Amino acid sequence: MHFFTGIQETQDLCQKWRDKVESIAFVPTMGCLHEGHLSLVEKAKSLAQHVVVSIFVNPLQFDDVNDLAKYPHTLEDDRLKLEELGIDLLFAPDVDAFYPEGEHAVKQTDLGQITAILEGAQRPGHFAGVATVVERLFGLIQPNIAIFGEKDFQQLMVIQKLVKEFSLDIEIVGMPIFREEDGLAMSSRNLRLTEAEREKAAEIYQQLALLRKEILAGANNFAVLEQLAIENLIKAGFEPEYVVIRETSTLLPPVNHSDDKVILIAAKLGETRLIDNIRV
Ligand code: PAF
Repeated sequence: MHFFTGIQETQDLCQKWRDKVESIAFVPTMGCLHEGHLSLVEKAKSLAQHVVVSIFVNPLQFDDVNDLAKYPHTLEDDRLKLEELGIDLLFAPDVDAFYPEGEHAVKQTDLGQITAILEGAQRPGHFAGVATVVERLFGLIQPNIAIFGEKDFQQLMVIQKLVKEFSLDIEIVGMPIFREEDGLAMSSRNLRLTEAEREKAAEIYQQLALLRKEILAGANNFAVLEQLAIENLIKAGFEPEYVVIRETSTLLPPVNHSDDKVILIAAKLGETRLIDNIRV
């Protein structure tokens, strides 16, 4: 496995593969790799000749400086895990190498409405930061395929919009959420939960499953269902930010009962903000 922190060496190696018409699958991450990430890497291995993983905690996508400061960094562990999986290249730049013009001087990518609702409304500027870093990574690596987890459901839609808007020839693959035994969606942020919080954290998944069951049984008063889950989460000790039932392809409120739906929750448990979703 190559381990690069520099832009030029990364660009050169990827260019060498492309010159030989060898395919590249790319998994962008912010590190602190768990089984969910590793499933993305396994998928990447099955889809292309070369696998590139990036680890970069992108300051542009954090709306809260404390959140950025507390983000876990586990590069040595991550490196070993990726080495074991046999990927071709781990790219882990530092902020100055990645944004040589200075992170505050970077012109950010704006993808419109999809970036303004839900996570975008709760975390202003978050998706502009995500789109900016992913656009730059795509430009550097120029993969054939890029793989993202569906836990960040809205992020996946933002990336699909990015690829469409800039006519990038990259196939975007979404992978199902990996869950702990009690249903908690795997996330690097779970490490921040105290023992007592960790015991409660799967309540988010239980509320998603409950709403899904109600909808499948014919319930269609979505506002009532959303409110019910909010109250249950508050009772369990969460501070819910949103519980919404949305149309899958737009993330807007469903118009027809037959629309494909996704239920999305964001809630704080103590100091930790958790998100999760389930399709109906
Ligand atoms: O999902 C993440 O880990 C990040 O948002 C991503 C896609 C690596 C961009 O920084």
